[in-house]
Amino acid sequence: MKSKIELYLGDCKKELMKIPDNSVDLIITSPPYADQRKSTYGGVKINEYVDWFLPISKELLRVLKPTGTFVLNIKEKVVNGERSTYVMELILAMRKQGWLWTEEFIWHKKNCFPGKWSNRFRDAWERLLQFNKNKKFNMYQDAVKIPIGDWAKSRLKNLSETDKIRYNAKNGSGFGKNVSNWIGKNTVYPTNVVHLSTECNSKNHSAAFPKELPEWFIRLFTQENDTVLDPFAGSGTTIEVANKMNRNAIGIEIISEYYYDMKRQFYESKCDSLKKRAKDEKAETARCYSIC
Ligand SMILES: C[S@@+](CC[C@H](N)C(=O)[O-])C[C@H]1O[C@@H](n2cnc3c(N)ncnc32)[C@H](O)[C@@H]1O
Repeated sequence: MKSKIELYLGDCKKELMKIPDNSVDLIITSPPYADQRKSTYGGVKINEYVDWFLPISKELLRVLKPTGTFVLNIKEKVVNGERSTYVMELILAMRKQGWLWTEEFIWHKKNCFPGKWSNRFRDAWERLLQFNKNKKFNMYQDAVKIPIGDWAKSRLKNLSETDKIRYNAKNGSGFGKNVSNWIGKNTVYPTNVVHLSTECNSKNHSAAFPKELPEWFIRLFTQENDTVLDPFAGSGTTIEVANKMNRNAIGIEIISEYYYDMKRQFYESKCDSLKKRAKDEKAETARCYSIC
């Protein structure tokens, strides 16, 4: 089956209404953070953020399949010496709206901004909040396994007797391990910390995802021919990656410059026969094309 791309120009609050109920497998997105990047694409006020986002998340809840996942990249900034609490307020409000707040992944930004402050250190992480409609959702954990690492060679060479049985932690946490279980394994499951550099290449967007970020979550939560949605598509990183991974992709972007950049990017890099169709296209909010 061919994977499709659908792009919409406009406010996602409205454009989402064009997407059918229960049709999306993964939503991964980074909306404007409160009070940030005002000069590039507006910026929602901190005390208005939850009210602004809830009608959007209501639509996201409608379009997501019962087995699907929503990953929200967000981070609160410091105001008057304190971290603002709007993200926490948003989580609570979304739970009331019907979402389960299943997990919080951390995006460790390996190349965070340099700087020195008297009361805090450099900010090297952002939140990747995972929301679901149900406790049971699709998750393909084997797709994100990582190499076991060099430690295994020496550690597993000479095992003691206690390494061969389950050893329970002495602090009463209930955690335990049997080191011998690692013998013969080349890969292991990752943690909920994703270590990636921020995007600093030539994209015409000030807050583009590194490609590896959507890629990791697309591998974890979808299979080929599933559908991935980014309602704040920006430069279209999610769309590009999803398409390369043979997933259908839907992107919504409010700024026409970014929307047309995306359109050009996918349309030029893909099928020549579509060029004419895109040129002739009049309705800018319409579904634009499928990739052949
Ligand atoms: C943080 S950026 C997303 C960047 C994207 N992840 C990428 O890789 O390029 C957020 C984007 O959301 C867009 N945006 C802001 N409000 C929007 C709205 N109501 N509907 C759709 N897009 C919106 C902004 O123009 C901006 O491009």
